[in-house]
Amino acid sequence: MTKPIIALDFSTAEQVEGFLAKIAEEQLALKVGMELFYSAGPAFIRELKNSGHAIFLDLKLHDIPNTVERAMRVIAGLGVDMVNVHAAGGKRMMEAALSGLESGSKSGKRPKLIAVTQLTSTSEQEMQKEQQIKTSLLDSVLHYSELAYSAGLDGVVCSAFEAAEIEKRTHVDFLRVTPGIRLLNAKADDQKRIVTPSDARRMKASSIVVGRPITQAENPQIAYHKIVEEWGK
Ligand code: C5P
Repeated sequence: MTKPIIALDFSTAEQVEGFLAKIAEEQLALKVGMELFYSAGPAFIRELKNSGHAIFLDLKLHDIPNTVERAMRVIAGLGVDMVNVHAAGGKRMMEAALSGLESGSKSGKRPKLIAVTQLTSTSEQEMQKEQQIKTSLLDSVLHYSELAYSAGLDGVVCSAFEAAEIEKRTHVDFLRVTPGIRLLNAKADDQKRIVTPSDARRMKASSIVVGRPITQAENPQIAYHKIVEEWGK
């Protein structure tokens, strides 16, 4: 997914259809999260795929290895391009997720599997107190990235601020998929540490996820093209 991935943070298929009509573009990269998936279901994913779009299904699985493997087998059958798990589920769970995706991929093309390390909503203090992890937040993110890499995953979701160090500790081809993207002088919404698309590229992100700057724009098509252009630089 080299194009900016648009986060479809909508609650119904109708809202998404209204939004996509405004972009009027074929072959977009779209992220479907829990809200939309729980509301619109697998049938809508197939519809988006049939329209030619690439899909990152952001369901963040975290369960025992057997359950995750079986769920991933079903997810692979939807023909999506990227999915994710929580690295906190452990190496065995991540390996099981991969194996489920492999056995469920009909075309032989397995969806990319990436891991969530620490949620960006988690503060270092919360992590240390609640998860009883005694390292810094960054060290925990790096540790989980290395664990995901050693389990054979294709990458992680991370902040642009962590991307270069993750690349250094893993491999240039290990994906660093980064949200928290805004155009210069745009409002941050609830994102704390934001970067522009060209900063993200410079900071070694391999893909960017962009939601509100496109979905809430007055003209989503213009906003999307601005982001594509900056990201491509
Ligand atoms: O609207 P905005 O561009 O902030 O949306 C970013 C998208 O990326 C949302 O779907 C959000 O849930 C997701 N995300 C994030 N930070 C993470 C992981 C995912 O903003 N660490």
